[in-house]
Amino acid sequence: MASKFFNHGTLERNVSLLGIAALITVAIGGIVEIAPLFWIDNTIEKVEGMRPYTPLELAGRNIYIREGCYNCHSQMIRPFRDEVERYGHYSLAAESMYDHPFQWGSKRTGPDLARVGGRYSDEWHVQHLKDPRAVVPESIMPTYPFLAERDLKPGDMRADLKALTRVGVPYSDADISKANDDLAAQADPDADTTDLLKRYPKAQARDFDGDPSRLTEMDALVAYLQMIGTLVDVDAARPQESLPGQVAPKEDGR
Ligand code: HEC
Repeated sequence: MASKFFNHGTLERNVSLLGIAALITVAIGGIVEIAPLFWIDNTIEKVEGMRPYTPLELAGRNIYIREGCYNCHSQMIRPFRDEVERYGHYSLAAESMYDHPFQWGSKRTGPDLARVGGRYSDEWHVQHLKDPRAVVPESIMPTYPFLAERDLKPGDMRADLKALTRVGVPYSDADISKANDDLAAQADPDADTTDLLKRYPKAQARDFDGDPSRLTEMDALVAYLQMIGTLVDVDAARPQESLPGQVAPKEDGR
């Protein structure tokens, strides 16, 4: 017979004691889950190729957020067969490690955009954003023709980069001090981008909106769209386990 204190009857009849005992039991579960997080440096598996956004990509991303593209588009491919076949390799946690705020989302009125980079030409994006029906007749996406008309005025990008370093994005001092020049250089076909490309590997430098004489919001947004999901060589980073019944992806990757 157990001692009187540990007698179950006592525990059940004394509400304070039961409360304390329940709290201790639940706390153990919580501690087991939370405690390890204090001792490991990073919960995200590192993958090769991830880098912070260039100032132009970041300005484009800010327009994406301003226009509410996330209301219809998610940026996270789930590891399910139908998603992987349609959109490409499922998203890795590290691919959104520099996203503040992240764009995962669950509302998909339009397709997921986590790997849209490089899938279409710049001209296609410009056409599609100006008038989605011109390239996809059944589309219900709104038109954004003004993006091509408006000069890109993102303010001082150094402040944007600096703010992001405060939440852990590893921009260097050079990245921050050159942010405004980098922004202009990436969309200027005549600019020397050697230094930019050294600091931001795989950055795509060219005129994006079809009008090299101007730097527009369209330049920034297309630069952003064209780099989404292109930094990490996903198959090398983590060879894809084959999902049940999976077939080889179609030629165009959709
Ligand atoms: C009202 C919902 C809605 C909003 C808001 C919206 N889209 Fe879309 N988007 C769609 C739909 C539906 C499609 C699929 C038809 C098509 O291609 O136009 C689509 C398709 C796309 C595609 C092609 C994706 C692919 O893989 O074929 C891109 C890129 C895109 N949208 C970008 C954007 C951007 C950038 C914005 C914000 C400026 C935006 N969308 C805002 C609904 C929306």
